[in-house]
Amino acid sequence: MLTKKWTVDNVDPLKMNYPQLKEAAALLQQEEVVAFPTETVYGLGANALSDQAVQKIFEAKGRPGDNPLIVHITKKEQLTDLVDNLPEVAEKLMQAFWPGPLTLVLKSRDSVSKYVTAGLDTLAVRMPDHPVALALMEVSGLPLAAPSANLSGKPSPTTAAHVDEDLDGKIAGIVDGGPTGVGLESTVVDCTTEIPIILRPGGVTKEQLEAVVGQVEVDPALTSQDQAPKSPGMKYTHYAPVAPVFLVEGGLDFLKETILRAQKDGKKVGLLVTEETKFELGEAGDVMLTCGTRSDLSTVATNLYDVLRAFNSTDVDIIFSETFPKTGVGAAIMNRLDKAAGQKIISER
Ligand code: TXA
Ligand code: MG
Repeated sequence: MLTKKWTVDNVDPLKMNYPQLKEAAALLQQEEVVAFPTETVYGLGANALSDQAVQKIFEAKGRPGDNPLIVHITKKEQLTDLVDNLPEVAEKLMQAFWPGPLTLVLKSRDSVSKYVTAGLDTLAVRMPDHPVALALMEVSGLPLAAPSANLSGKPSPTTAAHVDEDLDGKIAGIVDGGPTGVGLESTVVDCTTEIPIILRPGGVTKEQLEAVVGQVEVDPALTSQDQAPKSPGMKYTHYAPVAPVFLVEGGLDFLKETILRAQKDGKKVGLLVTEETKFELGEAGDVMLTCGTRSDLSTVATNLYDVLRAFNSTDVDIIFSETFPKTGVGAAIMNRLDKAAGQKIISER
């Protein structure tokens, strides 16, 4: 399949009346799948109401059929058709964080394709905070089912080039709206329980949620190996580069020793570090890639997936990553790093 590519800048795409967006929207109306930018990561969109269209998402990504999709909308009014009874907690969260990197899991009205929910009686919905995403949905007039636009198991795409790398020839089109901002996926919150539960940490932090609705729980499966996660997608290995990733917990000297030990074993060592650690390490390792600064962890979120992908264009045998406190956006960063590493941790203690 020939994949069409369009570039759209973010200056009020609705007013600009871009012919590119009309073409992309027309393909969506013809049950095709089209990748588009959101503020978190690129999404792979299809008409959420069409079985045929939604099945193409699973085919293109190689995604397991039991992993449900998020439906993206532009207006709160669209919820009336999609979900049953909106709990007050959900209303408050939408008010505070939409449009934005927050996905709400609500009681489904079964009005979308059955392939979207993968047999669950709940539906995940979000309103993205990206002018190109919103314009594409407005022009097509469709709610879009959209997972991240990567091959299953790969890091989510934060640029159109990442999407191209994974899906060129497999999808109808890619709308390039520049690099995404947040860099990690939305926070998924189950609002069908008395107390809301975070199923996937993401762009909106637990602390931010609690400031709006009080107590918020975290799915215990996120921190324990022996529970099945309530969000099916969280059970799969993810975000992994080709070389194995190890998280290194400990001081700078411990990291240096760990690097030297691996090099003595004949391994080419890749390092995933912040600006601060890079400065302190000097010439250590074979390939050092930086992913932002510890003084502002949102910069690490923005760059993490790009750096994980970039290791695949190097010849390293092993990757050591520094770790972060699991508070604020650090919770989402560590969740993704844990998955990229498949829980492999080298600890000083
Ligand atoms: O930021 C994002 O959320 C991006 C952009 C494109 O919007 N999308 C995204 O979609 O990350 P995806 O499919 O890669 O991840 C969706 C997650 C999966 O872990 C899935 O299992 C979970 O949401 N999910 C979807 N529907 C659910 C439901 N009804 N109940 C529980 N979890 C659900
Ligand atoms: Mg994904």
